[in-house]
Amino acid sequence: MRILGFNAYIHDTAAALIEDGRVVAFAEQERFDRIKHSTALPLEAIRFCLEQAGVEIEGIDAAAFYWDPWAGLGRRAWQTLCNLPRSTKLLGLHGHNWSAVRNVRHALRAALGYSGPFHHVNHYLSHAAANHYTSGLERSATLVVDGNGEIASALLGVVDRDGVRPLAWTLYPHSLGLVWCAVTEYLGYRQNQHEGKVMGLASYGAGALVEKFRRVVRADAAGRIRCDLSYFDYHKDRRNWFSPRFVAEFGPPRRPEEEITAQHIEVACALQTVTEEILLALTEQLVRRSGIRELTFGGGVALNCVANGRIAASGLVDALHVQPAASDAGAALGAALYVHMAAGGAPPPRLDHAYFGPEFSEDQVLVALRGRGIEPQRVDPAQACAADLAAGRIVGWFQGRMEVGPRALGNRSILADPRPAGMKDRLNARVKHREGFRPFAPAVPLERAAEFFETGGRPSPFMLLAVPVRPEFRAALPAITHVDGSARLQTVRREDNPLFHELLLAFGALSNVPVLLNTSFNVAGQPIVCTPTDAVECFLGTELDVLIAGPWRTAKPGC
Ligand SMILES: [Fe+2]
Repeated sequence: MRILGFNAYIHDTAAALIEDGRVVAFAEQERFDRIKHSTALPLEAIRFCLEQAGVEIEGIDAAAFYWDPWAGLGRRAWQTLCNLPRSTKLLGLHGHNWSAVRNVRHALRAALGYSGPFHHVNHYLSHAAANHYTSGLERSATLVVDGNGEIASALLGVVDRDGVRPLAWTLYPHSLGLVWCAVTEYLGYRQNQHEGKVMGLASYGAGALVEKFRRVVRADAAGRIRCDLSYFDYHKDRRNWFSPRFVAEFGPPRRPEEEITAQHIEVACALQTVTEEILLALTEQLVRRSGIRELTFGGGVALNCVANGRIAASGLVDALHVQPAASDAGAALGAALYVHMAAGGAPPPRLDHAYFGPEFSEDQVLVALRGRGIEPQRVDPAQACAADLAAGRIVGWFQGRMEVGPRALGNRSILADPRPAGMKDRLNARVKHREGFRPFAPAVPLERAAEFFETGGRPSPFMLLAVPVRPEFRAALPAITHVDGSARLQTVRREDNPLFHELLLAFGALSNVPVLLNTSFNVAGQPIVCTPTDAVECFLGTELDVLIAGPWRTAKPGC
């Protein structure tokens, strides 16, 4: 049975195609339309999924959408109506989105001619399904935390082959994800895009505002998130996410171009610290109430690798699984998995890797290079790349099937030697143009990870766990060690990505350290490259030293 799952219209739209529960194709729309966090109906992503599966739209047995327009409709409308006339615009926005979501099956039919069974799956059940049915576990305690679904904003539950059993719901407007949106806006960044910057900034704080921030948002004894809504305006209108009270107590907001002050850093630190406390409290409750110590976690808040690292190392759980597209893109897959299980399907296998996107042949790469007048050399990619990296060059690395999820995991990556002191600044100045306070992430072969990082024996295949760098390597690996001594680790197994694993070992043979700085192959504000043409354009448009795409190597003059 072939099921197409997708999301649309809100953010991070994506499509996934599963066959008998096995993921065949899964990719975000942004990679195709080149609009970061694209909100479009993901037609190009859907067309890619069909092409990858070798079927026409008639070959799809069911379509699953990640949102149920009828769930919580009355409560949500009431919440917004209560804040009239101020919420007039919000009411208009909700009305527009609701209508689009309700009519999405017609939009799919009009665009692609699909007229088969169509399922609207509750957003939180989609997330919960993505959490669990990618874990390979028989059953798990599951936690979903994001901005909001139809009406929910957090869920504690248990998932097994019989479905999702909710234990506790948090309902909008109480929402940890929306608090993150509000503080991200307060700090001069864009909500739903730059929360990772806030997390990076938080590590520089001393905790001066933590006590005060505990009044803003907390977990209650019933396993729900409770906000003091007097600090926020997001439920009244979306012009101002935070209220005058927030400003009165935490200081003036930062405009996007302004300097970051100690006060801004302390607000970020307080949010991160309280978030970790809340997630640990919810985990503790969930484990106690379910009796299950295998945790699966999803929703946008699950992209917080620092919090994930704390949960994993807390002793509360024996295992933590976060699938690579933990945000709403993953709910597209989750909707499909939910329908698969509801139809009596067998439990899907564990999702071991994230390489479910498009792949291109050697000839296609060559055509893209020659199209820009580049005549590349054919090389052994792992050996050539290791030599370039050991010589201090920054390499664009384009191989195999594109990753799904926000992290590049070794197929659409910019790679560099993590040892030179100036590498982070050089990479930022020449290619990535990111804020200097943000760390870069390391990749390491799984079997070598414990030598350099305090992993506690836990793999981190999707770069979603922050772990301490061993103290003796912090000074030696400055480009990937954050100010607090942590790193957002990716562990690589040979069976999941043989070429990237080979590259890490080849670099280790030259440098004695099989660790590479691995950041996404894009420039700030653009999606990760998808096609060979995207890669060549990014290479030419930045000061990347070398491009190795498939077996083809090209270098800038003088490199
Ligand atoms: Fe979500």
